Amino acid sequence: MFNAWELQFGIDLGTSNTIIYQHGKGIVLQEPSVIAVRQDTGEIQAFGAEAQAMIGRAPGSLEIIYPLQEGVISNYNWSTAMLQHFMRKIHGRAPWFRRSKVFISIPCGITSVQKRAVEETVLHKGSNKAITIEEPLAAALGAGLPVDEPMGNMILNIGGGTSQVAILSLGGIVASRTTRRGGLSIDKDIIEYVKKEYNLEIGERTAEDIKIRLGTVIKPEPGIRMDVRGRDMVEGLPKTVTVTSEEIYKLLDGFIVTMVETIRSTLEDCPPELAGDVMEQGIILCGGGSLLKGLDIRLQEETQIPIHLADQPQECTALGAGKMLEYDVKTGKRSASSPAWTAPKSDAYSAQEESV
Ligand SMILES: Nc1ncnc2c1ncn2[C@@H]1O[C@H](COP(=O)(O)OP(=O)(O)O)[C@@H](O)[C@H]1O
Ligand SMILES: [Mg+2]
Repeated sequence: MFNAWELQFGIDLGTSNTIIYQHGKGIVLQEPSVIAVRQDTGEIQAFGAEAQAMIGRAPGSLEIIYPLQEGVISNYNWSTAMLQHFMRKIHGRAPWFRRSKVFISIPCGITSVQKRAVEETVLHKGSNKAITIEEPLAAALGAGLPVDEPMGNMILNIGGGTSQVAILSLGGIVASRTTRRGGLSIDKDIIEYVKKEYNLEIGERTAEDIKIRLGTVIKPEPGIRMDVRGRDMVEGLPKTVTVTSEEIYKLLDGFIVTMVETIRSTLEDCPPELAGDVMEQGIILCGGGSLLKGLDIRLQEETQIPIHLADQPQECTALGAGKMLEYDVKTGKRSASSPAWTAPKSDAYSAQEESV
């Protein structure tokens, strides 16, 4: 016998990646939040990893789109279609979300209209309940922080489109800051740098590759280099240049300055007791961008605050949304009263959807 009554999902709808956790199964899907759309018909040609593989290689008639930009649903229909496709992938042909409870993480500071759009995306297909949770809270839970205690915990989540710093205590967000610098802004800086330094035009995927292979924020050993292929901007022909880790190291200074500044201003915003807790307990790093080499060491050097990299930095948010499900199972009523939750004002709405 299996419990067919209600499926439970924790979803991290990120600007770069969508990660889905299913209660009882673990992480069941991890795909880039990308689609490829045919320009003539507006039809979606590919989703996720398949669409991502087309970046920089798509013919003129295909447009590559990130439906979530800077953590916000920039196109409601495309976001819905993408999420629907991912759920189908998990469920096979069964109606997705039917009789399910979904916790979905949303970025801190989005408008109520955008929040509503996220909930509707999920409820639209018949989920019983869609509860949005703020991403820092989900990430902190996923990283194993004791967010319910009367103690200040700080988390820095470096995603694709944005990075967020948040201080949490007693299950709620006390202070937070979001910056538009994240993994993607580093890729853009690399594209600009290679253009200026070598007169070479490179694509997004190449830039990300350089970041992952050469990127470091602590002084690299000499001799770490990589051949980079692109198009010569003067002659218009393919050309290969060699980029060193040292160059990327220097380039990343600006990113570090922004992160340190964001941490400082969030600390300034919160009560002194909580700031004291953070100085003592340290900061948890998570998000794909936190995999940047040496980030914990460098940030600790710059801020003089202990920095810890989360166990599964990129999966934290989905895991945390999943933990939220388990909390609900255990305590039953937590959702209505706790400040940690965005109240599920959508109950009536979902009942109505369910009867359709
Ligand atoms: N090893 C790595 N080093 C540096 N950046 C990385 C690494 N792996 C992934 N990233 C970056 O992490 C970002 C995605 O992080 P993620 O937390 O999944 O974003 P989001 O929450 O916005 O979907 C991308 O910009 C990606 O390039
Ligand atoms: Mg994220």
